Amino acid sequence: MSTLLVSPGPLIGAARVPADKSITHRALLFGAIAQGVSRVRNYLDGGDCRATLGVVRALGVEVEEPAVGEWRIHGRGLRGLQEPDVALDCVNSGTTARLLAGLLAGQDFHSVLLGSEQLRKRPMARVVEPLRKMGADIGGRDGGRLLPLSIRGRGLRGIDYHLPVASAQVKSALLLAGLYAGGLTIVREPGPARDHTERMLAAMGAPILRHGPVVTAETPARPLAPLDLTVPGDFSSAAFLLAAAACAPGSHVTVPGVGVNPTRRGLLDALIEMGADITLSNWAESGGEPTGDLHVRPAPLRGITLGGAAIPTLIDELPVFAVIATQAEGLTVVRDAAELRVKETDRIATTVTELRKLGAAIEATNDGFIIEGPTRLQGARVDSHGDHRLAMALAVAGLLAGGATAIDDAACASDSFPGFADVLARLGARLS
Ligand code: S3P
Repeated sequence: MSTLLVSPGPLIGAARVPADKSITHRALLFGAIAQGVSRVRNYLDGGDCRATLGVVRALGVEVEEPAVGEWRIHGRGLRGLQEPDVALDCVNSGTTARLLAGLLAGQDFHSVLLGSEQLRKRPMARVVEPLRKMGADIGGRDGGRLLPLSIRGRGLRGIDYHLPVASAQVKSALLLAGLYAGGLTIVREPGPARDHTERMLAAMGAPILRHGPVVTAETPARPLAPLDLTVPGDFSSAAFLLAAAACAPGSHVTVPGVGVNPTRRGLLDALIEMGADITLSNWAESGGEPTGDLHVRPAPLRGITLGGAAIPTLIDELPVFAVIATQAEGLTVVRDAAELRVKETDRIATTVTELRKLGAAIEATNDGFIIEGPTRLQGARVDSHGDHRLAMALAVAGLLAGGATAIDDAACASDSFPGFADVLARLGARLS
């Protein structure tokens, strides 16, 4: 098991972060059903996206790498995927499993989805139930609530569905199934879950429309056009650098070319509300997504309350947000975030348990946590529980703590941020 030792200190300099994980998954899956060759530059070569790459190849799609960081995906058209002769292994990736369930439900073949021990604990009923309402034939462990799932593709019909939780994975699964369904598929969102699927499929010519919180999909009359995109830097990876630079005295960090889609940048909005010194320059667009360069320095922070519609826009950043809140003056409250309990780990429980080992004043609630700051964290031995975002949040805590922090099982950071420790080291962090 890999242990990362982090000593306190500032981060100074400029560093790029790896490409966006959500967009990379979608580029593979949507490129697979496009008509023609999609070109994807700067894809994310992390563990989760490798799982999607393996699955797409098992469905008969050729994916070439003509240059480092570049894919050519030979799309087989909406009806050209092949019945896989192996079970499709989603490894640790919930996005892979849930989007695939939607994509495969309307094919004319059988497939089986598998996952790691971690993924086999995560809920699948949230996609299986609405897909069954569309006519899908999906079986699986515990009545289809858990992986493995067995999907006998067949004709589907559109439904009008209120998402019970603001989940981009469920929304995307239903929109993908909607491309194969008779009639209209209507998905009503309770909050602003990330909208990469809508942006990318619409750019490919799919009939995906948004009216406020309602998104609709229909079977395309024409083949989907291939993608030609450069994937922006992942805001969720930049978040760890922003957090450290906002809190570690003496820091000054620039992260260029980061995706700042409004459905993803909730941490930026929260940091600004807390009083952080952050600026955004070089606004541009990449792959239909807004991007910018982020510049951060430390500033005195005050506690805030986060809940409601803000939560889906920073759901993956809440473990590192908890670390930031330990440095803010007063109370920080996170509520309406019960979704954290069904991520790679129960992130309410694991974040609270591990930050307490470092001396944080943090309490779990049913749907979030309450933190009192500021606290001078103290280095200790902590555990990632195999959760990439927790591993990196704890590394940020280690940069702020007195003494050394040892993070057990830290290599899982590469599920979303390959080279995380190297990037920190390039910015001056003392690691071993
Ligand atoms: C993702 C959606 C989110 C997020 C996950 C990636 C996606 O999950 O937590 O890391 O790419 O669609 P939910 O849809 O379950 O909220």
